[in-house]
Amino acid sequence: CGIVGYVTDPASATPGALDVVLEGLRRLEYRGYDSAGVALQIDGQLWTEKRSGKLARLEEALQAAPPAAASTGIGHTRWATHGGPTDENAHPHLSGEGRIAVIHNGIIENFAALKAELAAEGVKFLSQTDTEVAAHLLNAAYATCSDLTEAMRLVANRLEGAFTLLAVHADVPSTVVGARRNSPLVVGVGENANYLGSDVAAFIGHTREAIELGQDQIVTITPAAVSIIGFDGVAVEGKAFHVDWDAAAAEKGGHPSFMAKEIMDQPQAVADTLLGRTDAAGNLVLDELRIDESVLRTIDKIVVLACGTSSYAGMVAKYAIEHWCRIPTEVELSHEFRYRDPVVNARTLVVAISQSGETMDTIMAIRHAREQGAKVVAICNTHGSTIPRESDAVLYTHAGPEIAVASTKAFLAQITACYLLGLYLARVRGNKFPDELREILGQLQAMPEKIQKVLDGLEQVRTMARWMADTRSVLFLGRHVGFPVAMEGALKLKELAYIHAEGFAAGELKHGPIALIEPGQAVFVIVPSPRGRDSLHAKVVSNIQEINARGARTIVIAEEGDTDVVPYASEVIYVPQTPTLLAPLVTVVPLQVFACELATAKGLDVDQPRNLAKSVTVE
Ligand code: G6P
Repeated sequence: CGIVGYVTDPASATPGALDVVLEGLRRLEYRGYDSAGVALQIDGQLWTEKRSGKLARLEEALQAAPPAAASTGIGHTRWATHGGPTDENAHPHLSGEGRIAVIHNGIIENFAALKAELAAEGVKFLSQTDTEVAAHLLNAAYATCSDLTEAMRLVANRLEGAFTLLAVHADVPSTVVGARRNSPLVVGVGENANYLGSDVAAFIGHTREAIELGQDQIVTITPAAVSIIGFDGVAVEGKAFHVDWDAAAAEKGGHPSFMAKEIMDQPQAVADTLLGRTDAAGNLVLDELRIDESVLRTIDKIVVLACGTSSYAGMVAKYAIEHWCRIPTEVELSHEFRYRDPVVNARTLVVAISQSGETMDTIMAIRHAREQGAKVVAICNTHGSTIPRESDAVLYTHAGPEIAVASTKAFLAQITACYLLGLYLARVRGNKFPDELREILGQLQAMPEKIQKVLDGLEQVRTMARWMADTRSVLFLGRHVGFPVAMEGALKLKELAYIHAEGFAAGELKHGPIALIEPGQAVFVIVPSPRGRDSLHAKVVSNIQEINARGARTIVIAEEGDTDVVPYASEVIYVPQTPTLLAPLVTVVPLQVFACELATAKGLDVDQPRNLAKSVTVE
């Protein structure tokens, strides 16, 4: 879910609460879009409005019946967990005869017991949500202490699970109180105004000065002050940081969708992730990786943990790290890792990959790994987020804000960061000579231009996607680093176009999936470079022949100059010549564009696909 809070001095010329809260919700809508709502303080009362469906429905309702001016407000955009996406279940939830309003992200795990307790006291519930429990508890706590911050602290101590809560009270003017446990919340610091948000996008149009909150903290904002205490009541200092991108970076900039823009941003995302990480002589410099080199030399295993698209970046990392560093590397979905009693110890390096830095499955997995003594390096795109804060070191990807729910530019930036990490480990552990490392780094520096070349020649893919809009099923095949690319191509098509799609290791085809091939079945094949070592290329060309012989329509992604594939392919999409390990940075791009274009041709919203959320902050 997305959460916004705002307070300003009513006497100052700062914008009103409704405009700021709605703007924040628009920027956070990618975090959930099942329903939306706002609460404003107006003349000693609370005024609320909420609607199921996308934010536009709430905005229509607000235009039809606009509220009076307000200087304090909160807003919420929901990704449903407890209770379906109805008007009643939309946030805010009220208590105290409408004098208190609460919004929430996360899951309150002990809500059933608390609800039973409140119901026994005669409290009537209007929704099926776990959030409403927090609203009633807060009302009861406020009745005993008449202090909204203290009431929030008392409530936070009673809740189990993960939550960000924001509250406003009709009797406490110009104040918003927030609490966070295992769920994101950051503070924006303005002039005569302060902000709260699930991430900095909530307030980037107004301020780039922000404060990180730690776990189990309560924050109170007024127009002039930000104060933070722990759940134990002790005052704490937040960590201030400056956001290094501006509001324009989080806008479409003339593109039809955020996704279309973010695909075009990819050369820059890769270039920015490489920037400043080599010295004048072309040597790798990763000073930010604050794990002692002697520790890195003793590592005997790497475990990469991630979910969704980020896990495919992790699979690419495995091929690169094992080849360059000779360290056994496993890749595991974060949510599977912790529950199977994994073998992890002080000689294990965990690499946690997350665009948002807030994926709860990954947070829980790294906590488990650190408890076992492992060191954790995060690869993350979001400053001030939880995963980097809870890791031993972080390598930031500099893709800029990614707004479209399905990841594109962050994926390329993650792969780039994985290469840098692999090369760094190879240097520290003496697996590669400096000139070998410089050569690979040079090849990496050439990648943004190659990605640009792919983007400049995509009309063929676009045309193909448009006339394939009725396709019911698409398969993707790849070997070696082409395998994760195939998986990502299939995921993009599922996410954006709601088409059944599967990615396979091409060699696995004959062990089962070939049974799916019937005349006309569309199959994308990611072909490795014919200039690569061993016979990988020939093997994949054989795979193409096998499916071609069974009537499939083969769409081949191949390197420029590869003519071996031509006789068996219905379509060949050429990408620039690239060293095998770096090829995912170019081969995945046509697949992203294919999915985006096909979904658009079907009339779907590529930025906000159904049922998904960009940042999944529940387990
Ligand atoms: C969600 C998003 C995916 C994303 C995954 C991991 O499921 O819809 O696009 O790949 O989370 O997110 P992270 O922020 O950890 O990379």
